Formats: sequence, C-alpha cells, structure tokens
Amino acid sequence: MPVAPLRPPLRIAVLISGGGSNLQALMDGCATGLIPGQIVLVISNRSDAFGLERAKKYQIPTRVIDHRLFSLRASFDQMVARALEEAGAELVCLAGFMRVLTSDFVQYYAGRLLNIHPALLPAFPGIHVQRQAIEAGVRFSGATVHFVVPEVDSGPIVIQAVVPVLADDTPDTLAARILRQEHRIYPLAVRWFAQGRLRLEEGRVRVMDGEEDDLGVLVNPMGEA
Ligand code: GAR
Repeated sequence: MPVAPLRPPLRIAVLISGGGSNLQALMDGCATGLIPGQIVLVISNRSDAFGLERAKKYQIPTRVIDHRLFSLRASFDQMVARALEEAGAELVCLAGFMRVLTSDFVQYYAGRLLNIHPALLPAFPGIHVQRQAIEAGVRFSGATVHFVVPEVDSGPIVIQAVVPVLADDTPDTLAARILRQEHRIYPLAVRWFAQGRLRLEEGRVRVMDGEEDDLGVLVNPMGEA
C-alpha cells in the first residue's frame, strides 16, 4: 500500500501588536495537533504587547521590531523580512498586527501571508470596524481570514464566521463576540494551509478534500448571542 510522505511541521511566524488572543488560539492549535505546524517566531512592533508574554510562556522566540525606529516603512518591513527569513518561516500570520505592510513585502510573501479581520470583508475594511458595523445598522457582522494582497483588508477569503449584531451592542461587546469566532476560524485556516489544502484559483480560495471538521465552519448566527 502506498504511504503518503510525512510532511515536516509547517514553520509559522506570527506578527502581533497587542493582546495576542489570536496568537494564543494559534499556539493552542499547534499544541493540540489541530495545526500540523510550529510557531517559530513571534514579532511585535510594540514592546508592551501582551502577546509577547503569551509567546514566552510557550517558549516561542520573540522579536520586538519597533516601527518608530525606522523613518521609512520599507526599512521596517525589510527588518521584519530578515527576521522571518532567519527563522525559516514558511507561513506568516498577521494576528492583530496594526501596521500596513509595503506592497514589496506583501508581494514577496504572496500566497503565504494570512490576516484576520474583525468584519465580513469586503464590508468594513479599516479600523474601528465594530463601530462602523453598529453605525451602519447591519444585523450581522463577523470575522474573515484572508490572504494578504497590497490593498489593505482585501485579498482571497479563506474562511468567515458570522455573528449577530444585537440592538444594545457597543463596539466592545460586538468585538468580544467576534473575537470568540476569530479564535475558531484562524486555527482552522492555518490547519488547511499546513495540510496543503488551500488552492488559489482566479483570485478565489478553494479548500480541497473536505473533512468532518469543516462542518464547524458554518457558524449559526443565532447559536450564540
Ligand atoms: C482582532 O480582533 C483582530 O481581528 C484585529 O485586532 C484584534 C487583535 O486581537 N485585527 C485588525 O483589526 C487588523 N485590521 P488579539 O491581539 O487579541 O488577537
């Protein structure tokens, strides 16, 4: 019987700027085996990002690259790219990383750079998106994991989760509800990438060879308030 060759664990780097709860979900995903990969480096552009503490607890190497020390956006990005190369990163995950990357950087990592955004793209790109959703009066919002392209908060969508927007929501309550779904979908997207199941076809993502766990992808918006 032919035996499929074993893949070595995918080498993942995560870029953060803050709390790092998505980083936590990815670390947990690797630790439990959901993601056949290992996080080899966490980079933060802020030295006070709590995510750095989370990474240290898991003995994951961290780097702080303070964007304020670079007069040019491109020089900051080059420093980040150098750290990623040194770590041998094969996939780069933006997880609450609040810097816009240059198109040179994005093009270099095309097809191996993912981002999570707390809205149902292409609706509500940018910042303060939970406030935007409430002010627009939408009944549903959610989260999106997508491949990064030079245009901000755009690019082929891997997975989305839907959550209801309730009448008495504040940006904070909506953000918390969305964040809980982010923690479900980001590890799944990275799992699929690590399994080699994501195909880019005409600017759209196809997930190959569905499995049982894919059923969890459709979030029932009324299931959780
Ligand atoms: C998350 O909601 C993430 O989607 C968002 O920042 C938060 C980071 O939380 N990212 C963006 O808005 C990027 N445009 P975390 O640090 O706890 O993962």
